[in-house]
Amino acid sequence: ADEKVEYKTRIKALLQQKNAVLVAHYYTDPEIQALAEETGGCVSDSLEMARFGNEHPAETLIVAGVKFMGETAKILTPNKTVLMPTLEATCSLDLGCPAEPFSAFCDAHPDRVVVVYANTSAAVKARADWVVTSSIALDVVDYLDSQGKKILWGPDKHLGAYVQKQTGADMLLWDAACIVHDEFKANALVELKKQHPEAAVLVHPESPDSVVQLADAVGSTSQLIKASQTLPNSTFIVATDKGIFYKMQQQMPDRTFIEAPTGGNGATCRSCAHCPWMAMNGLKAIEAALTDTTGHEIFVDAALREKALVPLNRMLNFAK
Ligand code: 13P
Ligand code: SF4
Repeated sequence: ADEKVEYKTRIKALLQQKNAVLVAHYYTDPEIQALAEETGGCVSDSLEMARFGNEHPAETLIVAGVKFMGETAKILTPNKTVLMPTLEATCSLDLGCPAEPFSAFCDAHPDRVVVVYANTSAAVKARADWVVTSSIALDVVDYLDSQGKKILWGPDKHLGAYVQKQTGADMLLWDAACIVHDEFKANALVELKKQHPEAAVLVHPESPDSVVQLADAVGSTSQLIKASQTLPNSTFIVATDKGIFYKMQQQMPDRTFIEAPTGGNGATCRSCAHCPWMAMNGLKAIEAALTDTTGHEIFVDAALREKALVPLNRMLNFAK
């Protein structure tokens, strides 16, 4: 514990020295979220992370999350230094959607508007007409559908199917999934609900449809946190990364939050409700990044940046 206190003290000093601010996602470990809060940084969903980094006056952003979040920050604010605790923190959706085959898929369907999830590389964003996060995917697709547009959606098939079902839009889906949310199991959830009949079920739409169908509220991380405050229930079964429990419990200390069941124990389940890449954002890595930026700084090719900025700005302006 003492060691952690020392890390935190040194990180706080480094943040000041370097005029840096810590931007953390809800899925990072509780101590990282607490540190972001204590130091005037932000803890939020991916849309708010992008907005906060864009608007904050600090010269350096240290992004505790996964790589696409750091890249998004750099695309939006190229004059800032954007650091990440580790550049190895990727995302299965980003990995499942390489730019070349995705671009070929788009080329094969020129009649469709290309809408990509924020969980993608800068190169994939550069090929898109729109970028969306889970908190505004429904609104953007609804809008495009109302304009009579047909949509090509990538990469998350579960979120895509959910948006398609909700909006009735004509959507062609890329085939990738989040290894964390893909593990939630409907059968086991039905059993857990029987044990907690008073509980409301909160589900992130990267989960399979069978799990989404059991939900009392479906939404992005920030929308689920809101639901955990506004629904009348005292108990919640939560199908998303367990990092979110920190904020839910902090906001509603008297409520009980239970993990939704995944495929199995550590031996059979690859992620068990915690993203392995989010988990890489430790105190040691944050101190290392602030001490020597080598190997921690995000760079985005200028031509790519210019192209990726267009659909990203469309999202931010739409969300206003
Ligand atoms: P949010 O946009 O809800 O923060 O989700 C990002 C993410 O990676 C979900 O797995
Ligand atoms: Fe990607 Fe899933 Fe991890 Fe989110 S939780 S960063 S979608 S792998």
